[in-house]
Amino acid sequence: MTETPVLKPLLETVLGRRQERLPIWIMRQAGRYLPEYREIRVKAQDFLELCYTPELATEVTLQPLRRFDLDAAILFSDILVIPDALGQKVRFATGEGPLLEPLDATGIDRLTPQTVVDHLAPVLETVRRVRAALALDKTLIGFCGSPWTVATYMIGGKGSSDQAAARLFALREPVAFAKLLDVLVEASVAYLVAQFRAGADVVQLFESWALNLDERAFADWVIAPNRRIVEGIRKVIPNAPVIGFPRGAAAMIPAYVREVGVNAVGLDYSTPLGYAASAVPAGLTVQGNLDPLRLVAGGAQMEERAREIVAAFRDRPHIFNLGHGIVPETPISHVERLIAVVRGS
Ligand code: CP3
Repeated sequence: MTETPVLKPLLETVLGRRQERLPIWIMRQAGRYLPEYREIRVKAQDFLELCYTPELATEVTLQPLRRFDLDAAILFSDILVIPDALGQKVRFATGEGPLLEPLDATGIDRLTPQTVVDHLAPVLETVRRVRAALALDKTLIGFCGSPWTVATYMIGGKGSSDQAAARLFALREPVAFAKLLDVLVEASVAYLVAQFRAGADVVQLFESWALNLDERAFADWVIAPNRRIVEGIRKVIPNAPVIGFPRGAAAMIPAYVREVGVNAVGLDYSTPLGYAASAVPAGLTVQGNLDPLRLVAGGAQMEERAREIVAAFRDRPHIFNLGHGIVPETPISHVERLIAVVRGS
C-alpha cells in the first residue's frame, strides 16, 4: 500500500500553490511574550548561549506550536550569529539590544567566512532536532539576516533608526564595503545550505533595514546581495524555496521581487494592501502584514484589519503573518484570537 504523502500547507503556499487552509506563522513567535520562554531564558547566561545550546533552542523553537495552531516553526537563533561566527565580538545587553565591536576597513579583512558553518554547528544541530520533533504537516523555516541589514549592525555597532553609520561607510569606503557584502553573501549561502541539509523546508531572508535607501543604494546593497544568496543556494539545492522580507522597501518592492528571485515576499505593515496586490506578480506568494501593535491592542480593530488582509489576498497564494516581529507586551489571548479569526471564526 502506498501512503499519500502529508502536505505542508505553508510550504505549498510558498511554492505558489494556494491551499484550502490559509497558513499562519508569526515573526519572532518564540520570545519574551511567552512565560515559558522567559523561564528558559533565565537558564542561559546570555542570549547567544541560548542560541548555541541545542537542547534549549529546540525547546524554545517548539514552544509556540505547543500553545497555538500555527503552520510553521522558525528556528530559534538570531541574525547576529553570523558576525559572531565571522569573529566579531557580539553581545546582547539586557534592555539595550545587541552591541557589537564596530568594524572598520581593517577589521573587514580579518573576518573568517570559512569558519562560519563550523562555528554554527550547534544551530544546525537545533535544526535537526526540531525537524525530528515536528509534526509532518508543519513547515520548518530557517533564516539569516540579509547582508545589508547585518552590515548595519556590524558597522554601527548597534541598532539605529537611520543606519547612518553604515550608509556613510558604504559611500566613503565602497571597496571595503563591497568586500564586507561579499563576505556576508559567502557566509550566508554556506549557512543556509547547511540549514536546508539539516532539515529546513524554506528559509527567510530578513532585510529588516531595507528602508532609508535611495534606489541606487537599494539596487547595490539590497537587491544584488540577496540575489547572489538565492542563486548561490540554488546552485547547490535547485529550486530551494526562499521568502524575502525587505522591510520598508515600499515602491522598490516590484524591483526586489523581480530581481532577487524569491518565491514569496514578506510585506511590512505600512505596505498598502491594494498596492501589494497590484505590484507583486499574480503567482507570487505574499506574506503578512498585520501591524504588531494591532495585536497588542486586540479587539474589534484587530479582527477587522485581519479580515481585510485575508480578503485582499484571497485570489493569490498568501501566508498570514504580522508586518514585523511580535512585541513582548503582546497578550497571549490576543494571539489566540487572531489565529481563530484567520481560521475563519
Ligand atoms: O522568529 C523567531 O521566533 C525566531 C528567532 C529570532 C530572533 N531574532 C530571536 C531573538 C529571529 C528570526 C530574529 C531575527 C532578528 N534579530 C532580526 C530580524 C527581524 C526583525 O525583527 O527585524 C533582527 C533585526 C535581529 C537583531 C536583534 N536580536 C535585535 C535588534 C534584538 C534586540 C531587540 C529585542 O527584540 O530584544 C535581538 C534579540 C533577540 N532575538 C531576542 C529574541 C527572542 C530577545 C533577546 C532576549 O530574549 O533576551
